[in-house]
Parts: sequence; C-alpha cells; structure tokens
Amino acid sequence: MDKHDQTLTGQRHVDEVPFEISLRPQRFDDYIGQSAIVDNFKVFIEAARQRGEALDHVLLYGPPGLGKTTLAHIIAREMAVHITATSGPVLDRPGDLAAIITNLETRDILFIDEIHRLPNVVEEILYPAMEDYRLDIIVGQGPGAKTIKLELKPFTLVGATTRMGLLTDPLRDRFGVVNRLDFYTHEEIGQILARSARILEVTLEPAGAVEIARRSRRNPRVANQLLRRVRDFAQVRADGIITAEVAQDSLVALDVDEAGLDTMDRALLRAIVEQFDGGPVGIETLSTALSEERDTLEDSIEPYLIREGFLKRTTRGRVATGRAYEHFGLTVPATLSAEAGDDQQPSLL
Ligand code: ADE
Repeated sequence: MDKHDQTLTGQRHVDEVPFEISLRPQRFDDYIGQSAIVDNFKVFIEAARQRGEALDHVLLYGPPGLGKTTLAHIIAREMAVHITATSGPVLDRPGDLAAIITNLETRDILFIDEIHRLPNVVEEILYPAMEDYRLDIIVGQGPGAKTIKLELKPFTLVGATTRMGLLTDPLRDRFGVVNRLDFYTHEEIGQILARSARILEVTLEPAGAVEIARRSRRNPRVANQLLRRVRDFAQVRADGIITAEVAQDSLVALDVDEAGLDTMDRALLRAIVEQFDGGPVGIETLSTALSEERDTLEDSIEPYLIREGFLKRTTRGRVATGRAYEHFGLTVPATLSAEAGDDQQPSLL
C-alpha cells in the first residue's frame, strides 16, 4: 500500500464522498488559492522536516467546502507521513481516541474534523497528549481508580472546525498554528474549475468557466458539484462542450441564480424580507420558519450571504440588507436605502 494512503478511522464525513476526492489536489503545487496560508505551511513543513520533528499542532477553521480536509491531507503528503482521519462526534469515549492516538507513528498526523463536537471527557485527554505527548488514562472508578500514563510518539493534531467560537480556550490555546480559510476569488474558482474539467475530461470553454465560477459561492466544493451537474447537461442536451450558454441554461435548471444563490439561500432571505419585515429576526425563529437546523443556517448558509452583503448579523437578530431587496426586484425600504449604495456586487474575474 502507498505510504501516503490514508487510514480512515470512524465515519467519513458526509461531504467526503469518494468522487469528490478524485478532484482534490494532492500537493501544494496543485492547490489553488489560500496562498498566504499555503506559503506559511511550506515554511513550517520544511523547517519541521529539517529538524526531523513533528509539525506543530494545526487548527483550520472556516465555512464548509473551502479546503480544510484537503489541506490536512496535503500537509501529510508533504511531510511524507501517514494521516489518520476521524471526527469529533464519532469519538464518544476517551478509549476511542486512545486507541487511535496510540497507533500513530512518529510525526504522523491525526486529523479531527468537527473538533468542536468532541465530548468534554475526550477533549480533556487531548491536552496532555498535545502538550507532552502523554496520555493519562483513568482505570477503574471511585477510590480505587488509578491513572496510567502512556508515552506517545510525537505527532501532529490537525483540527478542523466550522465553529471557532464553540472551541474551548484550553483546546484552542494548544494549537501552534491557527488559520482561517477564506472564500475564494472568482478567478481562483475559475482555475479550480479548469483543473477539475481536465481531470473529468470535459471541455470547459473559458466563458463557460466564468458562468459557473460566478455562481459557485466562492466555494470549491460548490464549484466542483456544479461542474459535474453542468457536465451532465452538456452531455445529454448539448454536444458535450460546456459553453457559456450550456452553463447558463444548466444553472437555471439547477435553480442557481445569477448571484449563485440556491433555493435555500433565497428561502432564508425571502423569509426575513416577507415574514419578518426585513428583520431583525432571531436565528431560532428563522430555523423554525424554514424547518432547517440552526447549525446548518449558521455554518453553511449564512457565511456566504453575509460575505456578499445580503444579510447582516446584529445583536438583535438577522437583518436583510438593501442588496437582498434589490436581488428580488423589491423596493429597498427607506431605512435601508442610505446603505444600498454601499452594497455593490464585488467585481467578477
Ligand atoms: N479542488 C478543491 N479545492 C481545490 C483547491 N483549493 N485547489 C485546487 N483544486 C481544488
């Protein structure tokens, strides 16, 4: 087996369906965007390799689909070590983590996705493991309970989270490298689409790439998903070539609008505008009105709407902006129109 083959422990994250993995870059050389973060990692990895040490623990945070898991795997490959991937919610008991962590070899990477969902009792055994490469395991209960100390080989924990705010201070403080992954530019998404099209062996015209890129929510996962769907339309309804027109028609059929908003994005904005007079409205109320989990709204849907100036989070709740009204062809309320001029769409490509 290839030295770099990942060992997957616990469940795969739902987004990690195998077909997506084939589009994932394996090396920094193939990785597009996040250049400040990537450049720093190249230095940290080179330095750790020269010293023969494990890389310092790394925390990656940001909205789903921006490349946290991909980066963790690239780091392992560039370090030439194994990676074991798991996630916070599947590690129920300290013993689950102990079993994984004691199997790591020197300098290996342990990747914990959704690390904010790690149970407290499991999180606590991570502290000495991260700090001193030591596991304190409590055996037995009550007065007869004993602590067994286990030496670990130096390893690197790479944690990923969409919710930095939910991480406890002691855990966050134990990461030497903390990086927030940001949304991509339309140009970077265009380059990712061109690379993916080459791998998928589909002809993507530059104008077709522009059409898909500007509706991809600045998110590589969304871009690659749209590319696959548009490829289906191109194959069945056109001659297999993704032109601007094929991309446009396909995206209309997929209910992705000009700004890249999908059915759920629009439902959220429309609910605020039409049911709650533009807000402010509390997240719990919105969650009930839309029959959608609060976490999904906060982690997956809102960040892009806020980034693009359709939505504001205030202490009193969510508020639709002038741009949201304009998007639906509605008159911007006088109270908002003063700021509507500020809500220009960011330039494309
Ligand atoms: N596929 C998904 N994310 C990517 C990235 N950042 N660079 C290149 N290809 C990708």
